[in-house]
Amino acid sequence: MKALCWQGVNKLGVERVPDPRIQNAHDMIVKVRYTTSCGSDLHLLGGYIPAMEAGDVIGHEFMGEVVEIGPQVTRHQVGDRVVVVSFIGCGTCWYCDNDLWSLCDNTNTNPGITQALWGYEPGGIFGYSHAMGGFMGSHAEYVRVPFADHGAFTVPEQVDDLSAVFASDGVPTGWMGAHLGGVEPGDTVAVWGAGGVGQMAARAATLLGAEQVIVIDRLPERLAMTATHIGAETLDYSRTDVGAELRERTGGRGPDVCIEAVGQEAHTYGPEYLYDKVKQQLRLENDRPPAIREAIMACRKGGSVFSLGVFAGLVDKFPLGALMNKGLTLRGAQQHGQRYLPMLLDRMARGEITTSHLATHIMSLDEGPRGYDIFKNKQDGCVRSVFQP
Ligand SMILES: NC(=O)c1ccc[n+]([C@@H]2O[C@H](COP(=O)([O-])OP(=O)(O)OC[C@H]3O[C@@H](n4cnc5c(N)ncnc54)[C@H](O)[C@@H]3O)[C@@H](O)[C@H]2O)c1
Ligand SMILES: [Zn+2]
Ligand SMILES: [Zn+2]
Repeated sequence: MKALCWQGVNKLGVERVPDPRIQNAHDMIVKVRYTTSCGSDLHLLGGYIPAMEAGDVIGHEFMGEVVEIGPQVTRHQVGDRVVVVSFIGCGTCWYCDNDLWSLCDNTNTNPGITQALWGYEPGGIFGYSHAMGGFMGSHAEYVRVPFADHGAFTVPEQVDDLSAVFASDGVPTGWMGAHLGGVEPGDTVAVWGAGGVGQMAARAATLLGAEQVIVIDRLPERLAMTATHIGAETLDYSRTDVGAELRERTGGRGPDVCIEAVGQEAHTYGPEYLYDKVKQQLRLENDRPPAIREAIMACRKGGSVFSLGVFAGLVDKFPLGALMNKGLTLRGAQQHGQRYLPMLLDRMARGEITTSHLATHIMSLDEGPRGYDIFKNKQDGCVRSVFQP
């Protein structure tokens, strides 16, 4: 089959790879209808995620049609229209039992690398390096879905294919940030990043009862989209001092919950940007963390900060003093989609969460390298390049 493969840092190509086969009784094969690029893919394209190998099929967000099921799959049938969660959970380990699906103890088949980096390994994910299980990704015609009864969800009739693809990752990730970030009715929530993830976090905050939601970015088309489709306030960090502006808009107190949806390649201005860029290039710091630094500084005393943005290693100039002395709670996680999807698909069916506006560019898999180029460089108003294999 045809697939979009990582060929080296900032190099992608469409290759012929073997069709996936059922390997375990609980696997199924999905024929992909839509698969979307994600900010997380930019990190591996840029070479910031370890253990990629030339020829790896990338992509982790997808929906499609079930074409083959293993003998132990009970919740799906050939012909079902499903969306598949990007992280793979076994459904039986302690972590899955406790609804911490992305931390599954059984699905990362190559745990040594992340054990060395982080103490314990997270679960496996489609198309996201050999450090995260080495699973073939979704930018392909077909995908093998392990533990299909847990990771795949039937798409309700009212949700079209294009809308459904974002339920794979962007929608549950945003929801998790607002939920585990502790958003309460009446809160003020600030979200850094107006990409697909930041927009979905902002929408979730509103649905969880936040009174004021402010999304921060510098790309005018994304800020405009966030105002129109998400109904959040926006703040352009290229024009104002974010900390001062947030203080001003919150009566001097600061946001109750700050959600970082930017990740390890955050942009900023001036000496801070240069400092992080140079240290990252020399591999003296793995990630560029200006957005999470700013979130910690801007958060109200006793508030909470949630890192949805992906980080891989060590960062510099981390404001631990602010975290400790202001009594903040800091959390982060890869998404636990299996926990939220039944509820989120219901909300999508009722029109409470809309996603198709994120698909600014829809193209064939053959155009994958170009799709990633415009997504990475934020050209032509691209928010997500979505592929139809
Ligand atoms: N936790 C999870 O499970 C999970 C799932 C999906 C994606 N992610 C991560 O979430 C992050 C966002 O993903 P995305 O698809 O929305 O990516 P994206 O690249 O489309 O969006 C990132 C946005 O951040 C903005 N930005 C850059 N620097 C900023 C700064 N200093 N302040 C405010 N905004 C800034 C960019 O302009 C861009 O609009 C990525 O790091 C991605 O890896 C995490
Ligand atoms: Zn993703
Ligand atoms: Zn598990």
